Amino acid sequence: MARGKHGKKTRLNTAKFLRFLGVIALAAVLIAALIIGLKSCGKAKDTAPAEGPASEQPSGGQVSEAPVSGPAADASGTPQPEPPHEPTLQEIAASMQDYSHEPGKQAAPVTVQDENYLLLINRTHPLGPDYWPDDLVTVSKTVAGVGNNDTKKMRKVAAEAIEKMIAGAAEQGIDIAVRTGFRSYKYQKDLYSGYVQRNGEAKANTFSAKAGESEHQTGLACDLGGKSQNYALKYDFGKTKEGQWVYDHCAEYGFILRFIDGTEDKAGDITGYVYEPWHIRYVGEEAAREIMEKGITLEEYLGVMD
Ligand code: DAL
Ligand code: ZN
Repeated sequence: MARGKHGKKTRLNTAKFLRFLGVIALAAVLIAALIIGLKSCGKAKDTAPAEGPASEQPSGGQVSEAPVSGPAADASGTPQPEPPHEPTLQEIAASMQDYSHEPGKQAAPVTVQDENYLLLINRTHPLGPDYWPDDLVTVSKTVAGVGNNDTKKMRKVAAEAIEKMIAGAAEQGIDIAVRTGFRSYKYQKDLYSGYVQRNGEAKANTFSAKAGESEHQTGLACDLGGKSQNYALKYDFGKTKEGQWVYDHCAEYGFILRFIDGTEDKAGDITGYVYEPWHIRYVGEEAAREIMEKGITLEEYLGVMD
């Protein structure tokens, strides 16, 4: 009897235990599905332009040339994300073509075979949409929340030089970081288009290059931010201790200030852009020293003024 009772009890316990296992298994499946769902959301976030290119626009500062209307900013002056832009059919068609140049999808990636670090890129000497350097490497110190994974890269020679420059600055108590380095044709296109929408074409043309006309596409240029301005893009960067240090020392690392002939409110006659104390371009040490010592533009140094 007791055995019978015991046997029934055992069967009951077994059934309960199996039900318990079933509940656990169901819960595990639900948790796994939730984790996979969250991960795929995170992945989508990585690949989407986390912060719209429009946020690259300089903010605040004393440069009246700077888009006066500027990006929406919070109390600290940090640009706020723009509302999503609803693309037109023409824009979708155009971007489908452009996306063929994204890594892994490009039909014929451009291989940078030369060491022409004096490559001149401007309005009259543009790059084609296929130009995508094949030796881009990620810079270790970049500003969080700016650009995407590609814009944290520079061509190897420039990336190595900027790493040394950032370390050299740090040894002297100067804290600088890269905001954007390489920008693809597509990225620059979106960036410029955002500026035109917010500032109008004439104003945008004073501080932003159109797609193909930006030397960011070479992977040899980058924009810098300094800690004293929370690494933001500000027109008065040149007046900060970080901006001063960059002006004084960039040539030692092979960089020049690329846009020096404009003022804060007027584009320069030679470069066609306003003064950009944050934008440096790798040209190699010898050329950089001469260009910075003479205070000339790359166009003047190369004697290419057309
Ligand atoms: N701000 C510089 C001109 C560029 O867009 O490349
Ligand atoms: Zn720049």
